[in-house]
Amino acid sequence: MSASVTVRVPAKVNVQLAVGGARPDGFHDLANVFLAVGLYDEVTVTPSPDGALRITCEGPDADQVPLDESNLAARAALALAARHGRPADVHLHIAKDIPVAGGMAGGSADGAAALLACDVLWGTNTPRPELLTLCAELGSDVPFSLLGGAALGTGRGELLTPLPVGGDFTWVFATAHGGLSTPAVYREFDRLWEGRPVAQPAASPALLDALRAGDTAALAETLANDLQPAALSLFPSLADTLAAGTDAGALAALVSGSGPTTAFLTKDTSAAERVASALLASGTCRAARVAPSPAPGATVITTGE
Ligand code: C5P
Repeated sequence: MSASVTVRVPAKVNVQLAVGGARPDGFHDLANVFLAVGLYDEVTVTPSPDGALRITCEGPDADQVPLDESNLAARAALALAARHGRPADVHLHIAKDIPVAGGMAGGSADGAAALLACDVLWGTNTPRPELLTLCAELGSDVPFSLLGGAALGTGRGELLTPLPVGGDFTWVFATAHGGLSTPAVYREFDRLWEGRPVAQPAASPALLDALRAGDTAALAETLANDLQPAALSLFPSLADTLAAGTDAGALAALVSGSGPTTAFLTKDTSAAERVASALLASGTCRAARVAPSPAPGATVITTGE
């Protein structure tokens, strides 16, 4: 058995997030087109010397990451241990590069990575469909972090159909000063729609065609996020960030998921670098990062003694 396993896991952007009305269980039905992007966390698991579940984190935002059992990585280790009737006796170390509370599924990514890493460390060889079911129990976005690439998520986002992607897309992601709570953004969505019928969410055929063709200009025309008005209502200054990016030549700009990270689709890497510099110079964001897509899902990168 390996004495340590490291899994690399990507962030995501929702190129389409169509949101339906609130369901009786409090969740919203979605047509959620996920695209994995090349910003990564790495989760390393090692046997814990005293048998207790322990979690540590490094990275620029490490102080914002909970180090108790509210962390999805810890919950993933506990869920897999329970499934196999064994103790969750691991030290989980997260090297965090995905923005925290940013709408890029960073917490979900760590959950998927911890699940895969523990499965390899413990030699439990859980079948892939069962890993995906465990992911769905941890959170709506967790199965996609395991899968990567691009996928349509229906239900509350956890029922995945992989999507073909015919080329690369280059993004800039601008992190905000502060975070947004996903439940708060969905509550604001409900408040903004109160008394009005919400359409049944459906994936856009034009957007799926753009992904399949690898056509950046067509994707830029079809990007859509139904949570954007709610995120802007709670975080109005994001409008300035979106405008700064489009003024600098981004083909399209949108809030990533529930925000407050904003996403800018660009023609190529040099355009992306210009947009990132202009965003930083505008003073409307905390940082701006260039990232390619699509990116692979959670992947074991090292196993060691
Ligand atoms: O599934 P997850 O734990 O990531 O969801 C976090 C919160 O986001 C939920 O408690 C709910 O408030 C909201 N949510 C929702 N509809 C979805 C996904 C998430 O209302 N489809």
